[in-house]
Amino acid sequence: MKKRHLFAPGPTPVAPEALLAMARPILHHRAPEFETLLAEVREGLKGLFQTTEEVLIFAASGTGGMEAAVVNTLSPGEKALVIRGGKFGERWGEICQAYNINFIPVDVPYGGAVNPGLVAAALEKDPQITAIFSTHSETSTGVLHDIQAIAQVVRKTPTLLVVDAITSLGVVDLPMDAWGIDVVIAGSQKAFMLPPGLTMVGVSQKAWAVVKQSRLPKYYFDFAAEHKNLLKNQSHFTPAISLIVGLQETLRMIRNEGLHNVIRRHERLAAAMRAGVTALGLELFAERPTPAVTAVKAPAGIDGGTIVKTLRAKHGVTIAGGQGSLKGKIFRLATMGYADSSDVVVALSALELTLSELGYPIKLGEGIRAAQEILQRQPES
Ligand SMILES: Cc1ncc(COP(=O)(O)O)c(C=O)c1O
Repeated sequence: MKKRHLFAPGPTPVAPEALLAMARPILHHRAPEFETLLAEVREGLKGLFQTTEEVLIFAASGTGGMEAAVVNTLSPGEKALVIRGGKFGERWGEICQAYNINFIPVDVPYGGAVNPGLVAAALEKDPQITAIFSTHSETSTGVLHDIQAIAQVVRKTPTLLVVDAITSLGVVDLPMDAWGIDVVIAGSQKAFMLPPGLTMVGVSQKAWAVVKQSRLPKYYFDFAAEHKNLLKNQSHFTPAISLIVGLQETLRMIRNEGLHNVIRRHERLAAAMRAGVTALGLELFAERPTPAVTAVKAPAGIDGGTIVKTLRAKHGVTIAGGQGSLKGKIFRLATMGYADSSDVVVALSALELTLSELGYPIKLGEGIRAAQEILQRQPES
């Protein structure tokens, strides 16, 4: 028997409370019970997104939410600005390309965070830009971009700021209304403690004016049609009923813990993870690390992919390797969503054993000890 542990940056472990709720016989989505449930979910999402506006729910992975944001904010011939510094930033550009939208790229070297001044300069040079598309937590490099600083620039202009918050919502503070972000996209398989399959999209008042005029083609991902239904506690099409039942549970868990404490927990676990890997002599990849996932450079002479494979095969631990040009060069450990301090200890213990088996010189326990010191210094809230 081998226990399995999931420390990938998505999908993440599903909360048992959600698993049990989702195992109940299915509700009908036009029945009053579901409408009551959806009313509660709407309020819970507003709390999590820190907005007074409605948060739309679609049955899709996070990329569906990103595509929905593009087709609902732009019209043919309009221009976008895309912040790229990893696989997910690049995805914004790929979606724009698929819809023949010209975009100005702001390229950031992998591992770096965007300089908000570059965004301000690009916007000043070209005030016709309809929307800026950015990642918040760039899962592929482990970087957290300074969205608050970017929002400060963009909110004073007619341009919209669209943020992929797929691994940042419920992980770091992202007060959509207070910061003035126009579209915020989340995914169920991250901090929501649910399986993949739901994307949730917050839309600001400023964005609604643009959404109503947008002329890129859309059918399923029609924000206005979904919004109209949501106000009646309905969905336009058949929703992912079981996932929404699970969402009710995990939103309750987040509310009971308190969003502030959820965010603190993620920061604490990530700080412990970072301390653990650096105590082993390893280097972090990100210049401005996200608490969602710790990206670590593979030590010289050891392929990052071999670390990932050994962890899974010998220790039952799933983490992620590097993507694209980072393949083999980094590995990524996450404690996102349904995670607490024992998870950091398990992940580091398996990592230490793996590195030792692969011939990397370490003293067993050194990483764990550094992590424990952080955990002890920053007690749970
Ligand atoms: C930051 C970010 N954006 C977008 C995505 C794409 O989401 P999905 O795989 O759910 O389509 C991911 C998935 O890992 C992500 O981490």
